[in-house]
Amino acid sequence: MRRDITLLWGLRSRCAVACLYCYFGTVEEHKVSPPDQLGILSHISRNDLSREEITAFARTLEGSPVERVVIAGGEPLDWPAALDLIEIIKNAGCEVVIATNGIPLTRPGIAERLVELRVDGVSVSLDSVDPASNDRLRPSRSGKFGHADVVAGIQALLRARGTGPAPRVGIYSVVMRPAPQEITQVARLGAELGVDYFVPQPISLAPDHKLFAELAHTPEDTVTVAQELAQLQADPAGLEVPSPGSMLRFVSAISTQAGGRVQECFGGAQLFFVQPDGSLWDCPSDRRIAATPAERRRTIAGADARTLFDGRPPCTDCSHFSRDCVNMWPLVLDMPRLLNKESSR
Ligand SMILES: C[S@@+](CC[C@H](N)C(=O)[O-])C[C@H]1O[C@@H](n2cnc3c(N)ncnc32)[C@H](O)[C@@H]1O
Repeated sequence: MRRDITLLWGLRSRCAVACLYCYFGTVEEHKVSPPDQLGILSHISRNDLSREEITAFARTLEGSPVERVVIAGGEPLDWPAALDLIEIIKNAGCEVVIATNGIPLTRPGIAERLVELRVDGVSVSLDSVDPASNDRLRPSRSGKFGHADVVAGIQALLRARGTGPAPRVGIYSVVMRPAPQEITQVARLGAELGVDYFVPQPISLAPDHKLFAELAHTPEDTVTVAQELAQLQADPAGLEVPSPGSMLRFVSAISTQAGGRVQECFGGAQLFFVQPDGSLWDCPSDRRIAATPAERRRTIAGADARTLFDGRPPCTDCSHFSRDCVNMWPLVLDMPRLLNKESSR
């Protein structure tokens, strides 16, 4: 059996950070008009799976084709049951990568427990070297936390790891139109902090999003962004960074608003996306979700990971390439290198 699936699992809807650009939309907007279309994410948890449903599915991962589980959300580490779930997934023999806003890592015992559980990677989101710029777009709901806490969270995790091999610690940055220089600047900050990998990701916003004009790249930004990415590639400050192929995808995604074709796509073959309500999709891309035929709409609730992916093809032919899916390349193809696991394969 091929054990080569990456499951991107949006575990919970809620998050204590209210990023203005978040894929999950904003609580304020969703209170006024709750989203009702298929696959639309929200921080207002309406029908997140129960702990029992989640645990039951996780217990079927052993002996399944799932190789890696990337736990995101919402904020996974704010959910009290997250650490027990991670233990179950690790015991099932899967790699575990956590995507976090970093603030929970400052709470007593969390970083130490992630080390103890041998979590493979922790990707912390930080968009800017400038606290004010980061916190304007990534404000905490309480107003009490920000850039300094994220940095403190990274430091707490690195301290807890000590000289041990795991988890590998990385920074994920959303790259926005006004600040392409953050690509190399945040990498340098990461290197100073002692992290292991850095992944820049292009902002993805719908054209009718209120921040689209301010933050989304236009084709004219392509050259500057490409230069920054090339500089990162040439001098990654000692960090692991996405492959040249992933960087090319980044550049081609921002060079057009139109879709594109990916002939040998891993979505629906080696990558699947789970939403907090359990819905299972081939990819988190909203275009691909919208194009999913009714017979492909599935859920992990009550499902068994050992049979759920039966009949998957070696790759799919996707005509929905966009900024919304480009972040999947580092997650699927580059992750072994980011986690320093290539040599052990
Ligand atoms: C949705 S968050 C969930 C995990 C966790 N709460 C965090 O803050 O990292 C996962 C990643 O998606 C990024 N992200 C959210 N909305 C985005 C958007 N519209 N475009 C690009 N990246 C986005 C976040 O910055 C973060 O790095």
